[in-house]
Amino acid sequence: MISLRRNPAYLVALSVSVLTACQESQVSDIARGEELFDMWCSACHGTEGQGKLETGAPAIAGLPGWYLEAQLSGFQSGFRGKHQEDPTGQTMQRMSLVALVEEGDLTSVAKYVASLEPRSPELTIGGDPILGADAYGVCANCHGVDGKGNEELRAPPIVQLNDWYLIQELENFRIGARGVHPEDVWGAMMRGNAVALDDETVKNVVAYIQTLRAEP
Ligand code: HEC
Ligand code: HEC
Repeated sequence: MISLRRNPAYLVALSVSVLTACQESQVSDIARGEELFDMWCSACHGTEGQGKLETGAPAIAGLPGWYLEAQLSGFQSGFRGKHQEDPTGQTMQRMSLVALVEEGDLTSVAKYVASLEPRSPELTIGGDPILGADAYGVCANCHGVDGKGNEELRAPPIVQLNDWYLIQELENFRIGARGVHPEDVWGAMMRGNAVALDDETVKNVVAYIQTLRAEP
C-alpha cells in the first residue's frame, strides 16, 4: 500500500488547499473591510479614502496596515481622541467604537484601507519649503528623507497626508492633545519633536513635506 503522506501528489494537493484557504480568508477580510469602509468610513474620509476637509478626516488610503491598526486600537482604547481640545479626534474616537464591533473588523478594515491607492491631496496651505527643508532634517531620522515612514520606529508615512491635517496633528502634539496618554509610547516619542516647533516652522515644514511627493 502506498503511504498517503509520502505521495507527492497528496502533498501538492494539501499545500494547494492550504494556500487557497489562506487566500480565501485574505479575500474575505478585504471584502468585509470594503463593506465596513463603504458603510462607515467613506462618508467622512471620502469614497477613495482621500480625506475631506469639511469633516476634518484625513487621507488614509494606502497607509500601512500596522499604523492603521495601531491608531484604530488607540482610538478604541481611548488613548487617542479623548482630549477635550481634540474635537476631531473625539469624533473619530466615538466612530471607532460604533463602526468596528465584530471580532476581526478592525483588522479587516485596516487591510482594505491599506490596499487603497495612496492619494496626493490638493495643497491648501502656503509655507516656505526651503526654510522647511532645514526643519525637516530631524524629522527625516524617523519618517525618512522621502517621508515614507519607518515601521521599526513606528513612524508613519506622512508624505500623502493632507497639509491641513499635518498642521492640525502637529498642533495637537504641541498642545498635548495627542501623545500624552501614559500608554501612548509612540505618540510621546513624536510629541517630543513637535513641542519645540513654532507656528511658522510648522507651516514651512509642512510645505516641504508636500514637495517630497514629486520624487519617485
Ligand atoms: C464622522 C466622521 C468619521 C468617520 C465616519 C470615520 N472617521 Fe476616521 N477620522 C475622522 C477624523 C475627524 C479624524 C482625524 C482625527 C484627529 O484629528 O486626530 C479621523 C482619523 C482617522 C485615522 C487616523 C489617521 C492618521 O493618519 O493617524 C484613521 C486610521 C481613521 N480615521 C480610520 C477610519 C476608519 C477605518 C473609519 C471607518 C470604520 C473611519 N475612520 C470613520 C472622522 C471620521
Ligand atoms: C523619534 C522619531 C520621530 C521624529 C524625529 C519625528 N517623528 Fe513624527 N511621528 C513619529 C511616530 C512614532 C509617530 C506616530 C505617533 C502615533 O503612533 O500616534 C509620528 C507621527 C507623526 C505625525 C502624525 C501622522 C498621522 O498620520 O497622524 C506627523 C504629522 C508627524 N509625525 C510629523 C513629524 C514632523 C514634521 C517631524 C519633524 C519636525 C517629526 N514628525 C519627527 C516619530 C517621529
